[in-house]
Amino acid sequence: MIPVDPARFLADLHRLRGFGASGVGKGVVRPAFGDADIAARDWLIAQMQDAGLTVQVDAVGNVFGLAAGPSILLGSHTDSQPEGGWLDGALGVMAALEIARAAQAAGGPAVSVVSFQDEEGRFGVTTGSAIWSGHLDLTVADGLCDHAGLPFAAARRAMAGRVTGPVDPAQFTGFIELHIEQGPHLFQTGRQIGVVTDIVGIRDMNITLTGQQNHAGTTPMHARQDAFQALAAFNQALNDRLRNVVTPQTVWTIGHVALHPNASSIVPGRAEFSMQWRDASSARLDKMERIIRDTAEEIAGAHQMALNFGPMLGLEPVAMDPHLRAALETAAAQIAPDRWCALPSGALHDATNVARLMPVAMLFAPSINGISHAFEEDTDEGDLTAALQVLARAVAALA
Ligand code: GLV
Ligand code: MN
Ligand code: MN
Repeated sequence: MIPVDPARFLADLHRLRGFGASGVGKGVVRPAFGDADIAARDWLIAQMQDAGLTVQVDAVGNVFGLAAGPSILLGSHTDSQPEGGWLDGALGVMAALEIARAAQAAGGPAVSVVSFQDEEGRFGVTTGSAIWSGHLDLTVADGLCDHAGLPFAAARRAMAGRVTGPVDPAQFTGFIELHIEQGPHLFQTGRQIGVVTDIVGIRDMNITLTGQQNHAGTTPMHARQDAFQALAAFNQALNDRLRNVVTPQTVWTIGHVALHPNASSIVPGRAEFSMQWRDASSARLDKMERIIRDTAEEIAGAHQMALNFGPMLGLEPVAMDPHLRAALETAAAQIAPDRWCALPSGALHDATNVARLMPVAMLFAPSINGISHAFEEDTDEGDLTAALQVLARAVAALA
């Protein structure tokens, strides 16, 4: 047994929420490399040191607290979406800290902690762990920009003074990430724990349609090259065409749109938007990409738009390691008998990247009303501490 302290773990979660607390519910605004994110990482570094861990920060701001010798790695991320909740990522890092701290005090087992940087994709898709795992080349990442045009290379300079050097993945025997489900299944079925079977894959790219900016009062409707109208037509055509290839679990989202110049009396000349799609099958993701590109080309032609596709980012679907997963299932059955289940993850996680380096597994706590990536995100504190106990028990059993 690892003698974890649930009250100390909850107090740490609330303390972490203080960095970037939004004032709306338990919301948090802590995007990667912003002041609140860096302050939270500095606080985390101090907690790791107090716990007796050796801190290392790599060149892209991933923060590690290392136990001596070979160890199991636990953690997630402490950056948030532009409007996020207090648990997405934070839960996994604070549980990791509590288990590592308790294990250090008890004389073992060796547990290391990580908070990956930019999991939420301000610059890429799970950027920090994608680079650490070798999935994303640092020089490519450095050229990626956020929606305001800030390059990753410039953003990461804000943490340059804290960088100690690269962290060798060979010292870790496996990685387990605790996270909130961020969907409705566990909450709706009254379950306390989910053990993840697989994580879906994703594709993500920016698309730009460029027409002709013009006067909104004098330009006849038939003579316009209106980028918003082209985007609206693209969206409708795409929804129709995708219906033939998707499953009920497939999702696609246009979540960020920048209209230029975004003024009431100007026919918009440019629409730049994010196009993201997710599915459990790589083949289906590829098929969707073909449909997205073909539809965009067709609509651009019909609306006299120039068309540009940005770089394609993506992650393949991955299955969890059977041995680590079995340890989580055994612990879940002990802590929450009849209140746990196995389920796939529709959200992305750093675990997808880390699976390139070592065996990985994940467990979920329920999300109240299935809400996440919103200020309303929350979980019953009894469910949070149950998840901590399951993870601690599984780690002890694996050691
Ligand atoms: C991760 O935050 C995701 O978008 O699934
Ligand atoms: Mn997350
Ligand atoms: Mn998230």
